[in-house]
Amino acid sequence: MDRPTLFDFHGVSMIKQFTDSWEEVQNFKARPDDIVIVSYPKSGTTWVCYLVELLFFGKTCPERLASIPLHERVPFLEISRTSPTPVQFLPKSFWEQNSTIVYVARNAKDTAVSYYHFCRMNYCMPEPADWSTFLQNYMEGKVSYGSWYDHVSGWWEKKQSYSKLAYMFYEDLSEDTGREMHQLCSFLGLSLSAEEKENVLTRVKFDNMKTNKMTNFSTIHHMDQTVSPFMRKGKVGDWKNLFTVSQDEKFDEDYKQKMKNPTLQFYWR
Ligand code: A3P
Repeated sequence: MDRPTLFDFHGVSMIKQFTDSWEEVQNFKARPDDIVIVSYPKSGTTWVCYLVELLFFGKTCPERLASIPLHERVPFLEISRTSPTPVQFLPKSFWEQNSTIVYVARNAKDTAVSYYHFCRMNYCMPEPADWSTFLQNYMEGKVSYGSWYDHVSGWWEKKQSYSKLAYMFYEDLSEDTGREMHQLCSFLGLSLSAEEKENVLTRVKFDNMKTNKMTNFSTIHHMDQTVSPFMRKGKVGDWKNLFTVSQDEKFDEDYKQKMKNPTLQFYWR
């Protein structure tokens, strides 16, 4: 399978597959009860999608959850309502309709490592070359969906003026999924029993999602999970296994220049 190449799309590096349906996506008619889950690639979209879906439908739709893969139950906006879209690309209808948005951010280094392995195993992504080349491209925003810095900052700024946006962190979810789930329930106006919440928490555990064919992407043919599993490690701090000391120093220097927002200095946590 031929790998796609990147091109500049309104100032953001993209691949054609995600821009082909641009007009259709921009004309998307949102509803006030729509929920959009957004993140930069590899920041925990799948985890949050499944969590949100279970909070709404865990009890009422067991057959659906057991037989239809997650990516079909919660479709990608670009391709056919999850979205890795930078803030400026979200169809305006979602803003007009005051739709609910859940954004999830993950520290830049773990995201880079996860993205690298994802590009290796997913033949619909550009060839990542070796780790060092990929990391350099990532720092320069020359990867699909562009710069991590612009993405997390753009959505953070939006949150300051748009109240129906929950801005979550992968690291917080990892530290205490239950606490984050309670906060999400309040934000979404949901009230679940203690038993229902316990059930959701079990189902969204990494090991359970990894063995669940409906959430582990094993039904997708253009992903070679023998190269790297989609549910790869699910850890905070895995970057330490791949970054060399000099890559780390260079990255930190670059990070300081690009990321001035103190709230988003979260990878040191
Ligand atoms: P790793 O590659 O570091 O393991 P996305 O869904 O945005 O593509 O993000 C994928 C990343 O989220 C992968 O990270 C994946 O393992 C991790 N992930 C998915 N489900 C998770 C869960 N239940 N708990 C922790 N991490 C999870």
